[in-house]
Amino acid sequence: MSDIRVKIDGVAMAAPDKILTNKDLERIVDTSDEWIRTRTGMVERRISDEHTAASDIVLKACEKLFKKSSIRTRDIDLIIVATVTPDHPFPSTACILQTKLGIPHCPAFDISAGCTGFIYAITIAKQFIENGSATNALVIGVELLTKITNWTDRNTCVLFGDGAGAAIVTQANKGEISEIIDTYISSDGRYGDLLIMRGGGSRNPTSKETVEQNMHTLYMEGNKIFKIAVKSMGDAAVRILERNGFTGDDVDWLIPHQANLRIIDATAKRIHLLPQKVIINIEKYGNTSSASIPLAFAEAIEDGRVRRGDLIVLDAFGAGLTWGSVLLRY
Ligand code: UT7
Repeated sequence: MSDIRVKIDGVAMAAPDKILTNKDLERIVDTSDEWIRTRTGMVERRISDEHTAASDIVLKACEKLFKKSSIRTRDIDLIIVATVTPDHPFPSTACILQTKLGIPHCPAFDISAGCTGFIYAITIAKQFIENGSATNALVIGVELLTKITNWTDRNTCVLFGDGAGAAIVTQANKGEISEIIDTYISSDGRYGDLLIMRGGGSRNPTSKETVEQNMHTLYMEGNKIFKIAVKSMGDAAVRILERNGFTGDDVDWLIPHQANLRIIDATAKRIHLLPQKVIINIEKYGNTSSASIPLAFAEAIEDGRVRRGDLIVLDAFGAGLTWGSVLLRY
């Protein structure tokens, strides 16, 4: 065990200005505002324009983040970007961001853990800091899922949106209450085909055929994933509380991945948490995958709900399939 304790210094978010409502989607596919609201809790989502890439939105989130922090960009010595929609397959969006922010030489890399990406990235950053390999990590969750959406598939195109969240993960000072207490991550690759982008990799390199078959877009068997998501997110929340001697009564806030209001409600029930202790913004942003937790976290800090010292559970589930949770005092 390391003597170094690790905390989240701050979180900020950014999203494109353009809003795509359920009503707009009614004009694109055979769907209805009523179906989307009752099945998912979503009302609108943000959609980026053709000139915007992941690093552009992240940059906006980072500008807000560094404005609020005493940590400067030159103090950052680790950059981790969780995304399945990077600017390019390579180089990493983390390296692109490093240049945009003028961050000095340091490790910078992307990770792919679907919607659990932010939780994986926090877990990695915590370990780098605990073992002395880094001091101040910039941890990002960003997705421009509307760029890989199949706009003819009503099963998926109504669900996803664009956004970015950025956090500084750093050493906690002696006696300070803020701390990342524990993290838990897991995966089960057997279900990988249920949520996948089939084209563009070495299995199916981009060709006329892959494009014609829409293999460059997201494919999901949502109803098969639903049950696994409910179980995994519930288990992840219970596990992280139990192994640290807490119960739902101790928790100030659950900040869950925003995939479906029904999954969020079921997760809160598993840890016997009152609905008013759950941070939800799915109605505004839809499912923004690895960005959804930092988006919700940042909004809740901005509007004063989340305060320093609050006990918070982050909890997510996504492509891989992956899942995980973080227990922290903000
Ligand atoms: O982000 C991490 C990973 N993702 C998730 O965790 C997502 C998990 N899954 C879900 O959130 C839900 O399964 C969905 C929201 C994706 C779907 O809700 P559902 O209640 O599981 O619906 P379903 O897929 O079982 O479809 C029910 C019906 C079907 O019609 P029939 O076969 O009963 O006639 C679908 O064709 O709803 C139909 N349907 C739609 N109808 C109107 C599917 N999409 C739409 C739509 N508008 N957009």
